[in-house]
Amino acid sequence: MKKIILTADRPTGNLHIGHYVGSIANRLKLQEQNDYEKYYIMIADTQALTDNADNVDKVKNNIIQVAIDYLSAGIDPNKVEIFIQSQVPELAEMTMYFMNLVTVARLTRNPTVKDEIKQRGFANSLPVGFLCYPISQAADICAFNANCIPVGEDQLPMLEQAREIVRSFNHAYGKEVLTLPEPLLPENEACRRLPGIDGGLKMSKSAGNCIYLKDEPEEIKRKVMSAYTDPNHIKISDPGKVEGNVVFKYLDAFATDESFKKFLPEYKNLEELKAHYRNGGLGDVKIKLFLNNVLQELLAPIRERRKALEKDIDSIYKMLFENGKKVRKIAGETILRMKEAMGLDYEKLLKKEN
Ligand code: TRP
Repeated sequence: MKKIILTADRPTGNLHIGHYVGSIANRLKLQEQNDYEKYYIMIADTQALTDNADNVDKVKNNIIQVAIDYLSAGIDPNKVEIFIQSQVPELAEMTMYFMNLVTVARLTRNPTVKDEIKQRGFANSLPVGFLCYPISQAADICAFNANCIPVGEDQLPMLEQAREIVRSFNHAYGKEVLTLPEPLLPENEACRRLPGIDGGLKMSKSAGNCIYLKDEPEEIKRKVMSAYTDPNHIKISDPGKVEGNVVFKYLDAFATDESFKKFLPEYKNLEELKAHYRNGGLGDVKIKLFLNNVLQELLAPIRERRKALEKDIDSIYKMLFENGKKVRKIAGETILRMKEAMGLDYEKLLKKEN
């Protein structure tokens, strides 16, 4: 079966290096492999509104930011259809039908949603739309018959729920109408969930612990030099801990043997560097400067492309709007198939054609 790929991001801020290793790197790989029937990337503005109802401007302004992040990271608009979620109203209709197949108890069990509710302090003010966003996410996926969903680890509970919804729908209406999606995680474990520079569990805009794809060189360096390492590693001669050390976590995700050849040739690879750190005699400044070089090399071309793209914002908006119209047709076809399966094709009730 040929792949139909779909993934998305909420436009609530610029994309950061956690997005890059967690999902964008896989998206670029899929694009290179060229072994797919269709490839969509959606800017999930409707989903972003589920906890930003009073902050529409933020969501609106970040749509173009995220689009530029994609293009500057190397997503090719000739190969991938990038579109805006709210421009495909069929997704909302599909969500309505799916809502009847999911219980409130099931929604409140979703571990990612649970964490997010806590983080946002939604105890008594939880918007219904927010609780239901995993259902609308299932619609995003099903509308395009997507079977391959490149995401970070935090999205696994959403994919599990989407799969349940597909099964329930197909079961309830007795047909193989909807396609079961499969998540695609990064192979490298370290890439699945990148911690923040402060050692926080996850890199996130709200925690203010991100390195953004668009950061200027000085900013990147400043952040890397401030990264959380091992608080007990005080003197260079002290043995240091690699576990929980953000610099090593990032090196796990970003450094290759090539990086060592280029920037730190006195070590063959990361294993050697870790061993030296553990034994004592290796200072934080040295590993941070190495990480800085690795990240600067990755981010420089992305930043350059961004500067070029920023000169013609209109053509990016036009591309997004055009794609929105195109993909609506596909979502519309899926809705028709669903309604037929459900018996909502009321035209058939007419006895005579007129
Ligand atoms: N929830 C995803 C995120 O926060 C964004 C998203 C919306 C998504 N719809 C999707 C991801 C469909 C994959 C498939 O990053």
